[in-house]
Amino acid sequence: MQSILKWETNKDTYQLSQSHFLTLGSLTQNDIHYLLAEAIKLKKYQKEGKAHPYLQGKVLAMLFEKSSTRTRVSFEVGMLQLGGHAIFLSSNDIQLGRGESPSDTAKVLSRYVDGLMIRTFEHQIIEEFALHSTVPIINGLTDSHHPAQVLADLLTIQEHKGKLKGLKLCYLGDANNNMAHSLIEGAVKVGMDISIACPAGFEPDASILENAKIEANATGSSILVGMCPVEMINGADVVVTDVWASMGQEAETVERLKALAPFQVNTELCKHAKPDFIFLHCLPVHRGEEVTADIIDGPHSVVFDEAENRLHAQKALLKALLGN
Ligand code: CP
Ligand code: NVA
Repeated sequence: MQSILKWETNKDTYQLSQSHFLTLGSLTQNDIHYLLAEAIKLKKYQKEGKAHPYLQGKVLAMLFEKSSTRTRVSFEVGMLQLGGHAIFLSSNDIQLGRGESPSDTAKVLSRYVDGLMIRTFEHQIIEEFALHSTVPIINGLTDSHHPAQVLADLLTIQEHKGKLKGLKLCYLGDANNNMAHSLIEGAVKVGMDISIACPAGFEPDASILENAKIEANATGSSILVGMCPVEMINGADVVVTDVWASMGQEAETVERLKALAPFQVNTELCKHAKPDFIFLHCLPVHRGEEVTADIIDGPHSVVFDEAENRLHAQKALLKALLGN
């Protein structure tokens, strides 16, 4: 596997293996390395105030069926910085919310815009959009995947640890959600070992796990799922958690909090990680639930670098999918 720093991104010759961005599992290792190298380049341009209008005249529609702060703002700002434009569409305000089908919506929007970012519920909905769209579809979160977030997470880990391959990432909590699934797919693609601590009933989706194990064999990494947080976090370089009740699961909050309480990321538990571990959380966070304030607001936390990197990683993605 090539190191991401070896990519020569100025040549702009690389073609992603997919025309849509629905999951990290569907990308190749080279796709991910290319996107990370591009993100580093675009971040540098932005920090140096160097214009990088790769998407002049291009328009991205952003369709949200769930709330968002980071995804909405980072995609919109990303399009602006690339010289393009973004249109925010809430499903409550368009005909989709009144029953117009995803396929008709995809066909119509494809006639107006150059790309469509979607945040929705069942992953099947975004697959249907992709099937009927003639422009790239970008997953801005579904119930089962959040690949744009994990691309930013990989960039953040690379920046803080100087590498990805060979690191150990431990994810604790609800392992049947979008973040856990995309982290599993992303980690094994770049050769990171991943351990998952979760209670019974909160294990990752079996088919995602199965495919990731095949990928892990190819990249020489490993996946471990267990119910003992101390055992799973032992020696971790990167510690990650997410909310215990994701958007759409609010009615299950009480029972989820009870089941997941032993998996809280706190100072006592983190004594078992490497002394220089970094802590990631996609945000928004519930302090005192999945993580204590001393960890997320403490010296190991890189969550605001992670949030910033949404912008840079997604600009690389937008350039690759919407650029000429
Ligand atoms: N992490 C993330 O996707 O945040 P938003 O829900 O604010 O977009
Ligand atoms: N798992 C969380 C992620 C939020 C960005 C959710 O789906 O609500």
